[in-house]
Amino acid sequence: MRHLIDILDFTTDEIDALLDRADDIIANPEKYQEVCKHKKLATLFFEPSTRTRLSFESAMLSLGGSVLGFSEAKSSSASKGESVSDTIQVVSAYSDIIAMRHPKEGAPLVASFRSGVPIINAGDGGHFHPTQTLTDLLTIRREKGRLDNLTVGFCGDLKFGRTVHSLISALSRYTGIKIVLISPDELKLPTYMKTDVLDKNNMSYRETTDLVEAMKELDILYMTRVQQERFFNEADYIRLKDSYILTAKKMESAKEDMCILHPLPRVNEISVEIDDDPRACYFKQVACGKFVRMALIMKLLEVEA
Ligand code: NCD
Repeated sequence: MRHLIDILDFTTDEIDALLDRADDIIANPEKYQEVCKHKKLATLFFEPSTRTRLSFESAMLSLGGSVLGFSEAKSSSASKGESVSDTIQVVSAYSDIIAMRHPKEGAPLVASFRSGVPIINAGDGGHFHPTQTLTDLLTIRREKGRLDNLTVGFCGDLKFGRTVHSLISALSRYTGIKIVLISPDELKLPTYMKTDVLDKNNMSYRETTDLVEAMKELDILYMTRVQQERFFNEADYIRLKDSYILTAKKMESAKEDMCILHPLPRVNEISVEIDDDPRACYFKQVACGKFVRMALIMKLLEVEA
């Protein structure tokens, strides 16, 4: 039985095959309408989410399966003091696959030790978010036609941004990737990501605080929200929250075919005037999220079209 806890749980070939499958689902959705008939997906969200949970649910419904679950810790037995490990043993008796989001780093990994069914990490604290990465990779591949030879700028909260950590890990598998890390000093990429991923794989990267200076070299600009819920004090959040706001003026030096991504939700980081710029790909990215999750559910449940 396979789980998806860290994007590196899958080989590059497996990731490429998932993206191929997602492309085929987009092209031929009718082929997939019933492949998960009588299968149940449980979504256990101990932390708020709109798009990730709904995209999992929509993915399973589009495969002909059904869904159950909860969307906040207080409506689960966690509020009575139940451990993650007990919750998982119970839920795995009622479902065929589980997507789980939890504020504690490592909780989905712990769950996978106890689960009788595949576990998908739908975000664990400030750590990882591998299904957002599959979404990001599919969007990049569809927009740019490749996953190698790209200069990718990550801007905003690189410290707590779990989507950033997982996407950088995934990109370490591809050649010719240059990473530009754009953040305030307080929100720099954690040291473990630099030593265990960037340095270990000899990846080319640099750090800057200046978005405009970095703009002209980027093929992809990955904007992120400052993760308010992970701050220890409100004053720091207020000081840092508007560090970067992408405006039409700042886009002037960007490449004609640069692709702007954002895992959403957006707060202030991207001015709404950018939404009409053909380089804005974040709403296309949302659509990709459903299709790649359909491909993932099929893989983990070992069903074929
Ligand atoms: C992201 C997350 O939850 O980490 N959202 C998402 O899953 N689409 C990013 C964020 O919340 O800022």
